[in-house]
Amino acid sequence: MSMNAVCKVGLVGAGVVGGGVAETILARAGLLARRSGVHIDLVKVADKDQPRAYAAGVPKDRVVDDFRAVVDDPEIRIVAELMGGTGVACDVVMSALAAGKHVVTANKALLAERGRDIFAKARDKNLVVAFEAAVAGGIPLLLALRDGLVANRMQSLLGIVNGTCNYILTEMTGKNLPFEGALKEAQRLGFAEADPSGDVDGKDSGHKLALLSALAFETWIDFSRLHIEGIKNIRDIDIRIASNLGYTPKLLGVIRAEPRPSSSEEGGRGEVAENGRLFLSVHPALLRTSHPLAAVSGSMNAVETEGDAVMESMFYGRGAGRYPTASAVVSDIVAVAKSVVFGGPGPAWFPPEKNAYRIAPFTDYQARYYLRFVIRDKPGVLGTLATVLGARNVSIAAMHQFEADRFDGLASVCLITHSAREGNLSQAINDISALDILHEPPVLIRIEG
Ligand code: HSE
Repeated sequence: MSMNAVCKVGLVGAGVVGGGVAETILARAGLLARRSGVHIDLVKVADKDQPRAYAAGVPKDRVVDDFRAVVDDPEIRIVAELMGGTGVACDVVMSALAAGKHVVTANKALLAERGRDIFAKARDKNLVVAFEAAVAGGIPLLLALRDGLVANRMQSLLGIVNGTCNYILTEMTGKNLPFEGALKEAQRLGFAEADPSGDVDGKDSGHKLALLSALAFETWIDFSRLHIEGIKNIRDIDIRIASNLGYTPKLLGVIRAEPRPSSSEEGGRGEVAENGRLFLSVHPALLRTSHPLAAVSGSMNAVETEGDAVMESMFYGRGAGRYPTASAVVSDIVAVAKSVVFGGPGPAWFPPEKNAYRIAPFTDYQARYYLRFVIRDKPGVLGTLATVLGARNVSIAAMHQFEADRFDGLASVCLITHSAREGNLSQAINDISALDILHEPPVLIRIEG
């Protein structure tokens, strides 16, 4: 194998991630060439803010301010889009593919919202769009799901895929902080952005879940219809109560296939089960403190999967940050470069042309629930709560009432339910809310795992 093979690469965006990628490629060119047999030649870096690229060590004569100079360069075989967003970034990716270049991107929002068009274009042109860094940053999760676990029908996936939210919830739990206090601390330490909404509202996790659904469950979802709840309404009092009950709060992305398909149903002809349903959701959830994901603290990410052959697997690592993300992007660049130079499909992925599952309505979601009601402390109120829940087929597994303060006449009641249907539970909550026995809106947190 020749060690002289060269693959020319262009990069668009030299911010935190793009700068880290440029720096890594330039500083480790020898190591990458030794390990892959290809010299990765970073020939152009585009950024409107050119000094950012200089700061990453890119020679001035390789820095341009217009992405078209990268996309139009006939020598460049791989374009890494690392600017983020769904506007210009989409033009970068589409025009790179139109120009016959492979694409590497960390852009989860773009792929979750426009992935079908982008992958269709790549397929037409026989090109690769590699996106390891788009989900769980530095963890080689997509590599594992696409290649390492290719023989499995995935049955479920539970993921902590947003480090900002995990950091905030960890601080709230460990230091008894309210959400706002933990967010401020996260911002001060650089774990949360000045505008944290994309993270704390759950949208970033939703984008990643959409990609995991396509990759591991052969099912694209219409992102705008994904059930997403963020962590802004999680109260420190519920974290304290839940901790005492043996639970830890996490923002989870959940995918569950139903029915659990048997490996015999395919018959070896590559067709997929069309009648199964897929449940997808992003929501704050309580996990038993002994659950492996409950131990994933701070800004770390982790994903637990269950495949029908391999059973449970766990992937853990850093989901964000300059170098962890660069680690994944450079891995994609090297894999694509190897396929350019030596042939083979590289990290090509064949996205579903037809969904393997129907998306289940969220009202059919099943979970156990933590519920907290602040009720007027009068005779019969507790009985009414239990009766209404029972009438909607929600069964109570545990209950605790905190003694009323005799001056305000209010009592807090916490309930843990048996597994119940989301639609029934929300009808019960509506019924209870209409009864004038509540002092404030009820709290509902799903219990997973
Ligand atoms: N902002 C994300 C996080 C990383 O906090 O994990 C990029 O998706």
